Amino acid sequence: MSPTLDPEKLQAKIRQVFGYLEGALVSGMIYLGDVLGLYRALADDGPHTSESLAEKTGLDERWLREWLRGQAAAGILDYPGDGRFELSAEGAVVLADEGHPAFAAGGFGGLPAQMAVLERLPEAFRTGRGLPYDAFGPDGSRGIERSFAPWFRTLLVPLALPKLEGVVPKLEAGIEAADVGCGTGVALLEMAKAFPKSRFHGYEISSHALELAERNLREAGVENVAFHDARQEPLPAEPRFSFVTTFDCLHDMAHPQRVIRSIRRALDDDGTWFIADIKARESFEDNVEENPMAALMYGFSVLSCMSSALSEPGGLGLGTLGLHEGLARTLAEEAGFTRFRRCDIEHPMNAYYEARP
Ligand SMILES: C[S@@+](CC[C@H](N)C(=O)[O-])C[C@H]1O[C@@H](n2cnc3c(N)ncnc32)[C@H](O)[C@@H]1O
Repeated sequence: MSPTLDPEKLQAKIRQVFGYLEGALVSGMIYLGDVLGLYRALADDGPHTSESLAEKTGLDERWLREWLRGQAAAGILDYPGDGRFELSAEGAVVLADEGHPAFAAGGFGGLPAQMAVLERLPEAFRTGRGLPYDAFGPDGSRGIERSFAPWFRTLLVPLALPKLEGVVPKLEAGIEAADVGCGTGVALLEMAKAFPKSRFHGYEISSHALELAERNLREAGVENVAFHDARQEPLPAEPRFSFVTTFDCLHDMAHPQRVIRSIRRALDDDGTWFIADIKARESFEDNVEENPMAALMYGFSVLSCMSSALSEPGGLGLGTLGLHEGLARTLAEEAGFTRFRRCDIEHPMNAYYEARP
């Protein structure tokens, strides 16, 4: 016998589910607006009609008209009337200003690559085995880069590093430093530019990320950076570094305990390990109650973070919301770190920790 359905609740559920479909499609439109430079074109000068935007961008008017209407319907663009569409000052920062810490459109750059792995995930649910970051191809690596780069470029050196005990003077004087899980190397290159007397080493297992890192290095023109494929060239077994960072990658690692132990071995006894990871809570209940982005985070987890953390046999599978402060502290202590504290650095998504031997 089928259960009696409450018609109002049924309508509400349909609206909710279609709301997520709408979100997915509007996300696709944001991706297009970003890759086609439409937000930048709208941010440059006042309201545009589809005709004036077509003239400015050289794109087809009919396609632009449909995109503009959809963006206004979604509330992303303002519609003052008369076929004119406008990006507000706030919209311009979030969608068009790559140099601003609040820039978010870059996060949509990896969307097609991320969504494409959906076809492979039913198999992962059957076997339990996930996919490494390389499954997203070069666009996936570029998408991650563009999600995190605004913070690295604007706040890492001036805001975050000074919060660490004695690290900036050491970097100024000249030390060896490493970024593990360095992605395409943006954080490392920012530090290398700011501290030319220090040498910086990036460790990664994604060949796409490493390729882009080498390209970024050539473009940056600095000489105090080297990237290493951690699968062939792991962290040194002796204390060579005085400063090690891990940015949003421990929860993605299949064997974070091994990596943390190798970070401890590679760090000198007076060194500092700086950790950025998702602001996760201890329980699922707390994550859902306290994190307004919990559903987004669980989505990222299945698509990429947990998948990567299960991509090797025996992977721990922490996933996006799997590394809460208590666990980070325990893993650090188990690897031989005796001091661990949360840093006073505000970020909507991340928590920051300083661990010392
Ligand atoms: C979300 S990305 C973050 C990349 C970079 N830290 C950033 O903030 O842009 C996570 C990265 O961790 C890398 N990774 C996963 N397991 C790793 C391991 N065992 N050693 C080094 N890197 C690893 C992945 O390949 C991926 O590039």
